[in-house]
Amino acid sequence: MEEKKKRIFSGIQPSGELTLGSYIGAIRNWVALQNEYDCLFCIVDEHAITVRQEPALLRKRSIAQLAQYIACGLDPEKNIMFIQSHVPQHAELAWILGCYTQFGELSRMTQFKAKSAQHADNITAGLFTYPVLMAADILLYQADLVPVGEDQKQHVELTRDIAQRFNGVYSDTFVLPEPFIPKLGARLMSLDDPTTKMSKSMPEGCVNLMDPPEVIMKKFKRAVTDCETAVKFDKVNKPGISNLLTIYCAATGKTMAEAEAAFAGQGYGVFKPAVGEAVVELLRPIREEAERIVTDKAYLESVYKTGAQRAQYLANKTLSKVQRKIGFVAR
Ligand code: TYM
Repeated sequence: MEEKKKRIFSGIQPSGELTLGSYIGAIRNWVALQNEYDCLFCIVDEHAITVRQEPALLRKRSIAQLAQYIACGLDPEKNIMFIQSHVPQHAELAWILGCYTQFGELSRMTQFKAKSAQHADNITAGLFTYPVLMAADILLYQADLVPVGEDQKQHVELTRDIAQRFNGVYSDTFVLPEPFIPKLGARLMSLDDPTTKMSKSMPEGCVNLMDPPEVIMKKFKRAVTDCETAVKFDKVNKPGISNLLTIYCAATGKTMAEAEAAFAGQGYGVFKPAVGEAVVELLRPIREEAERIVTDKAYLESVYKTGAQRAQYLANKTLSKVQRKIGFVAR
């Protein structure tokens, strides 16, 4: 008998452009794992509104993000691909799980601390309870594995804690999910400040999936390095070069030793454009394919509508079980 496949859930906020960080840290692994697992890939628009979004732009980005998921190699026939707000069970389960999450736990979340510092004039309750919605996303589908970059590990761990607590009170209800973090490129750093994460909210040092080649080259040529000359991996003393080496290896498939050897005796003036070119070649087919797919509105609509229907079916199973266990009257 064929064994039941394990399940994956992951998502990205349509709060900005998809970045090289989100591609290498997350999407690339989704593509690699899609044959082995039963997968759900989401466009988490409800998470995006935890900081203010321009409505027309949010709508446009949500659809463009789906086109880019497909262009990266995710197959809508194989995977369930959908928009979070189309499946109301996420918000419903989030409310319930919020009643099993401590204020103190949420206060310790690094992303909340960083984002509330960034948006000091708009620290909403939604920004604070964001990780509870993320727990609902994952637990609703009984996901075994959550492929994300390193910055999301803490949220997946909190998800496990919430699930474990709920299971402890009401008997086994949720699968405990594991984060899946890539060995290489789990945390790409900004090109203009290699001590901070490459992030869509700080566009200067960030390479986007849809950037044209000349923009990518310009960003790499300007990348901040150090005042030495050796192309060597040393995270503490040479964070800029180490980040560029990581990107180079992720883009070309070379090992760190091979990359260092390739640039031995050559200065940063040769190295930086070479990294840029490797990234241009990595992203070129994705950009071209995404530009083509995004014009096919009817196709994209059929993908996200079918995705939402299939997701709702699975989500309902978990939600009804939860509602019954906690004592809600059956509908
Ligand atoms: P988001 O939208 O910030 O980021 C999307 C994914 O990309 C990864 N990532 C990076 N990886 C390596 N280097 C970087 N510089 C980099 N920047 C981003 C992130 O780790 C993430 O995997 N809370 C999530 C979205 C979310 C989610 C979920 C994820 C909502 N519900 C359920 C998984 C499961 C977020 O803000 O990702």
